[in-house]
Amino acid sequence: MYDYDLLVVGSANADLVIGVERRPGAGETVLGSDLAVHPGGKGANQAVAAARLGARTALLARVGDDAHGRLLLDSQRAAGVDTAGVLVGGAPTGVALITVDPSGDNSIVVSPGANGRLTPADVRDAASLLHASRVVSTQLEIPLETVVEVVRGLAPDSRFVLNPSPPRPLPSEVLAACDPLIVNEHEAKVLLGGDGAEGSVEGSVSDAPEDWARLLLERGPRSVVVTLGAEGALVASAEGVTRVPSVKVAAVDTTGAGDAFTAALAWRLGAGSSLADAAAYASRVGAAAVTRQGAQDSFPTAAEVEAL
Ligand code: RIB
Repeated sequence: MYDYDLLVVGSANADLVIGVERRPGAGETVLGSDLAVHPGGKGANQAVAAARLGARTALLARVGDDAHGRLLLDSQRAAGVDTAGVLVGGAPTGVALITVDPSGDNSIVVSPGANGRLTPADVRDAASLLHASRVVSTQLEIPLETVVEVVRGLAPDSRFVLNPSPPRPLPSEVLAACDPLIVNEHEAKVLLGGDGAEGSVEGSVSDAPEDWARLLLERGPRSVVVTLGAEGALVASAEGVTRVPSVKVAAVDTTGAGDAFTAALAWRLGAGSSLADAAAYASRVGAAAVTRQGAQDSFPTAAEVEAL
């Protein structure tokens, strides 16, 4: 019996958000809306999303001893997340500078701050938390060596879920543990070496998500999920590749929708759903999340997902 349905090991950021008519190009200045400050960060977002859906959730993260850190802790506690694993101090809380355009699309620059100081030793110190969790989820706004330590510290029968965002090449040890690896189009192309990122080979990847899923599976994950925005998602495992539709909604702000998707998927998998069923549910959660502004503020309850 596990104490937690989901442990999220990951980042916590203060999101500084400005609405703009058009996101600026290189060398360009644009005027935007008043500044809004929201709790965010891919790890903290996942934890809040899961807890709001009803999952027993814990967060292992690091924030600064500052106002942004307190904002993040308050948000986690209000959602019902166990914050015993949230470490305080060592650097300022991570910050994300976010611009959102009228279509709801965003651009994000992250200063990792304290997220960059979440170390493998912190993971080893939290061994009891890892062993008490049915599913463990991470992203890449924390050091890669910390993610490697999470993989090494998993309980024998707990499940590991990774959203490699922002994407970078992954060691085979991490890839082999993913069940699933969850990527969007950009992340898939970077991991496959075709999106102009460091270590990539321009133009080497096909345009078909089914191909990305199959090629990623060959790198070692037990399963792969490719998120396709308004088009839903695609799930792939040794049993085959399946498309999962989404629900049509009017997008206001896509910030954090991928985090809500990942959290919902991880929770449903831990509850025994098949990969396709978990992805279908997660698509509804992600769709609900884009209909409201902000990241954590936009995440639905289970009742809201049912009503969608
Ligand atoms: O995925 C959305 C998140 O990315 C934002 O909340 C921001 O903090 C960045 O980490």
